[in-house]
Amino acid sequence: MFRIPFLDLPALTGAAGTVKLPGSKSISNRVLLLAGLSAGATTVRGLLDSDDTAVMLDALRTLGCVIERDGDATRIGGLGGRLAVHEAKLFLGNAGTAMRPLAATLAVLATRHGGRFELAGVARMHERPIGDLVDALRPLGCDVGYLGTPGYPPLAIAGHDGGRLATAAPIRVRGDVSSQFLTALLLALPLATDTGDIVIEVVGELISKPYVEITLNLLARFGIDVRRDGWQRFTIPGGSAYRTPGEIWVEGDASSASYFVALGAIAATAEPIVVEGVGRDSIQGDMRFVDAAVAMGADVAIEPGRVVVRRGAWPLKAITLDANHIPDAAMTLAVMALYADAPTTLTHIASWRVKETDRIAAMASELRKLGADVVAGDDFLRVTPPPRWRAAAIETYDDHRMAMCLSLAAFNPLAGATPSVPVRILDPKCVGKTFPDYFEALFALARTEPRHVPVITIDGPTASGKGTLATGVAAALGYQKLDSGSLYRALALAAMRRQVDTSSGPALAALARRLELRFDGDRLWLDGDEVSADLRLEVVGSTASRISALPEVREALHDLQLGFRRAPGLVADGRDMGTVVFPDAALKVFLTASAAMRAERRHAQLLSRGVSANIDDLRADLEARDARDRSRSVAPLKPAEDALLLDNSALSADQSVAQVLAWWAQRRPFG
Ligand code: DC
Repeated sequence: MFRIPFLDLPALTGAAGTVKLPGSKSISNRVLLLAGLSAGATTVRGLLDSDDTAVMLDALRTLGCVIERDGDATRIGGLGGRLAVHEAKLFLGNAGTAMRPLAATLAVLATRHGGRFELAGVARMHERPIGDLVDALRPLGCDVGYLGTPGYPPLAIAGHDGGRLATAAPIRVRGDVSSQFLTALLLALPLATDTGDIVIEVVGELISKPYVEITLNLLARFGIDVRRDGWQRFTIPGGSAYRTPGEIWVEGDASSASYFVALGAIAATAEPIVVEGVGRDSIQGDMRFVDAAVAMGADVAIEPGRVVVRRGAWPLKAITLDANHIPDAAMTLAVMALYADAPTTLTHIASWRVKETDRIAAMASELRKLGADVVAGDDFLRVTPPPRWRAAAIETYDDHRMAMCLSLAAFNPLAGATPSVPVRILDPKCVGKTFPDYFEALFALARTEPRHVPVITIDGPTASGKGTLATGVAAALGYQKLDSGSLYRALALAAMRRQVDTSSGPALAALARRLELRFDGDRLWLDGDEVSADLRLEVVGSTASRISALPEVREALHDLQLGFRRAPGLVADGRDMGTVVFPDAALKVFLTASAAMRAERRHAQLLSRGVSANIDDLRADLEARDARDRSRSVAPLKPAEDALLLDNSALSADQSVAQVLAWWAQRRPFG
């Protein structure tokens, strides 16, 4: 898959509105596994649709579960606590919530019913410890081996039909590296309770307890009532069996909520940020993030099913917090610390080092790039707000949470950053692990001033390939796109349809002000009618060229074009984008290609649409239109003084896009 290399966030100055959270990752993957193990079918609603749930779904399918999707509902046919497939290789990406529980479950099932399984992931997954879980499984009689480095995936699991599990003595598991080892055993061992109770004892301090609470809560929904003595001893009653609840709802992701709670605390000065999908009834421990946000000054109301956040204290108040209970959401606090009145200290966060990346090291290094002073210890982080903010290209380490929480640094104008700085997020698509639409959601809420929004202009003569180039560049950067020619064409078409005099500037200007246009990507609707195809007609193009020479027409379409300048940025193509409409554009490109080449391209384009044309006529027409666009007195077609010239006669579309992206990557402040 093509990954966008970076996303530049302009300096942002406010936020308001409602966001609907994607489903919880922790709940989704637990529910999927429980449904897969139960007898009968389970319908799951609100399931997270992301990289981590995709690998769990794939694994369940490989293991023989029938999975059907229907809109928001996912139906999982469970295996009834038995193996349908006895040999498989599973690829689990970088999903700890899939690797650990599947390893334990398949170890238990293979030992009893026979089987051979290999569990592998991406390179980083092979650096994330699993030894404590394997050490707990081996005394049970499970045959679990390491295919690479001892203590880490990939794993090989084997067993013979009729094998027995040694469950009479308590099963001991370490709890101080990852709580997922305990969760994995709790999810797997109900499959082995036919000979009586099973006791699990935690060795060492149990970290991230709220995640174990989610596990217990969901086990109960699937018919398993685990008895808990403190956080040290867990008893699964003999004779336990998974029972599907039939239908189950996945609530919104509380860790994902943290970014929007923080957004409200930082930037919701007038209207609040409303976060839908989690609320008072949530079973997720990361809801406790809200307490920390409130301690830093957020004004929060927790309601059933939603959280309403406004800025309270400003600047935020520095805190010192033992963040052991909210390891994931605490990363968001480290970024909120940039906006605080003094240094903020987060302690008891050693588990950060074994997550998607070493998050203590990663956070320290990226916050420093922004100008913050950071002290990183083995299990703590202290962040002092930047005395002077710096524009930074933020490394994300294939860690979704690094990308999401560091995006909040773009609100630096609110911290008085002078000058305010944009923030470049490298590999922004890594958010797909848990929140594929994160940046779209952020931009739907964030406010900024047009001057902060970067514009790339692409001007040039007709058929020079501006549209293709602008579309490619906008897609690569995640930017908005303005095809200004389509506005002139739409006005021309409207005038033709309504028999407005196309030589009268005032009449056309009046029509332009009444135009009802709606855009969706490259499609355009005029007064509710899709006109995308009609706009490409030659007669519409030549009428557009004529009316565009009228000053009243250009004036009437001016503000409409400025309205496209929205976060995170704009790629605008036309004739006068760099000279008249966006003179402050950060990069101006002027495309040229020989008339012969352009006539050839237009010819091929027409043929592909089934329209026959004479290449010489096309060339003559292009040259006439060039002459008119160049010689008109208002906004004549010419390169801006600071434009870079790109002759694409000999370049493919991809090569042209690559050239513009290369120029863009060089631009200050990131170049
Ligand atoms: O780019 P295009 O062929 O779709 O544009 C149609 C006409 O609109 C073109 O002949 C000139 C005019 N135009 C303009 O004058 N200024 C712009 N920024 C874009 C287009």
